[in-house]
Amino acid sequence: MIVTNTIAEIRETVFNLKKDGKTVGFVPTMGALHSGHLSLMRTMKNHADAVVTSVFVNPTQFGPSEDFDAYPRQIESDLEKCRNEGVAAVFLPSKEEMYAEKQLISFQLLGLGDHLCGASRPGHFHGVIQVVNKLFNIVQPNFAIFGQKDIQQFYVLKRMATEFNHGIEILMGDTMRESDGLAMSSRNAYLNEEERKIAPKLYENLQDLANKIRNGTDDFAALSASNRDDLRLAGFTIDYLTLVEDEFLQPKNRHEKGEKAILAVAAYLGKTRLIDNIIIE
Ligand code: PAF
Repeated sequence: MIVTNTIAEIRETVFNLKKDGKTVGFVPTMGALHSGHLSLMRTMKNHADAVVTSVFVNPTQFGPSEDFDAYPRQIESDLEKCRNEGVAAVFLPSKEEMYAEKQLISFQLLGLGDHLCGASRPGHFHGVIQVVNKLFNIVQPNFAIFGQKDIQQFYVLKRMATEFNHGIEILMGDTMRESDGLAMSSRNAYLNEEERKIAPKLYENLQDLANKIRNGTDDFAALSASNRDDLRLAGFTIDYLTLVEDEFLQPKNRHEKGEKAILAVAAYLGKTRLIDNIIIE
């Protein structure tokens, strides 16, 4: 497995893989790899001949009061996991390698960033687009994969790849869950023992609400009221619990039986912000 800190070397590595006739699948990460990331690598292996991963905790996607400093960093065990998954190359850039010069150009996100995490984390998706655009231009893979758990990120990046003609096929990876249903996330490590016991109730609640929505509703706000109460009683502080249109992610209050939509939640347990979603087909 090639491990490199430089743009020049990861470019050369991918160039050589492609020269040998191999397709390249890219799994961008911020490290602290868990089974969710490994599942993305495995899915990617079914699509591409060689898997390339990046580990970079991108400062520009964290707000000033967010957890950039606390974000778990465990590079040696991350590399071990990549080796075990048969990853061909890992790109581990420094901040200086990624942001060598003053950044004078920024992206404007229209519509897609107005709701869900885009509304509660101002600037977050600008940072995500900025770094993934760079990573796509550096690595130039055939495929890239992002998990369903960060569903707004998935749709924003899929749209970016289309609108900016990256020529990269964007895949969605399933949300991996602990045995009690909690969606895997590097941030779960922040939960204390008590919070960890409560955390699975988020997905239980979401499943309950998704079942109610599947039959159709004229009034999501009313339908979801008791679910909000239950979450608050369990100890969550709700950031959002929203039903949105597929792909364009605009909130909807009315749902026809059989329509595709996304039920998404973000809630705090203590200081830990958990997100999850269910795609209603
Ligand atoms: O999902 C993540 O881990 C990050 O947002 C990403 C896509 C690697 C960009 O920094």
